[in-house]
Amino acid sequence: MINRNARTFLKTYVRSPSITGAIAPSSRGLARALTAPLREYRTPARVLEVGAGTGAVTRVIGECLGSEDRLDVCEIQTELADILDAGVLAEGALAGARDDGRVRLIRSPVQDIEADNTYDFVISGLPFTAFQLEDAREILNVIRASLKPEGVFSYFEYIALRYFSRTFGFKATRQRVKAVSSLMDELILTHQIGRQAVLFNIPPAYARHLVFSGSEC
Ligand SMILES: C[S@@+](CC[C@H](N)C(=O)[O-])C[C@H]1O[C@@H](n2cnc3c(N)ncnc32)[C@H](O)[C@@H]1O
Repeated sequence: MINRNARTFLKTYVRSPSITGAIAPSSRGLARALTAPLREYRTPARVLEVGAGTGAVTRVIGECLGSEDRLDVCEIQTELADILDAGVLAEGALAGARDDGRVRLIRSPVQDIEADNTYDFVISGLPFTAFQLEDAREILNVIRASLKPEGVFSYFEYIALRYFSRTFGFKATRQRVKAVSSLMDELILTHQIGRQAVLFNIPPAYARHLVFSGSEC
């Protein structure tokens, strides 16, 4: 039996697959893998979550936040932002932090975020493989600019999805995924500081952690 959030998530995928990019919210295991660097951090943290969906990762970020940490949660789709607003952001410690002004919901595309070296962590659920190359590049540049120099960018990708889309998709899809894939591979090669395979997720995924060092994507 799937719950209401999962049904809404699936509905947004059927309506806009290239924006939602997944058929189901992330598992708790994947959320924990994405938040591993945040859990090791000690001083007050500024955190940006992009592509929060129904809040599966937001909930786990909330469990990691200390009393002086701040969290901005960004989600482009109104229906999903409404679920965040009335759900995970209205419950428990996150609700209290929101009342204190330490948690904010940003109902707009990540491309609109103007943040200059602000965040210690950007945690992403964005479906880069579903994006056009130029969109992926623009978003990655916004994320890079929003991070402090030693800030960590954590994101996930489904294991072998890029390979299958590059090999078995329609020609236009193959070309698009190949181009985005080259961009991601270059970033991984230059900036990756850690990777964890999470098998208990639909589908299994890698959580990747990157630290940028100046250059544009
Ligand atoms: C694969 S889902 C991940 C949802 C959630 N983080 C999770 O792990 O279950 C991707 C999410 O990114 C959002 N998204 C896509 N493009 C976006 C953009 N440009 N700015 C902000 N959010 C975006 C989608 O609406 C969707 O909720």
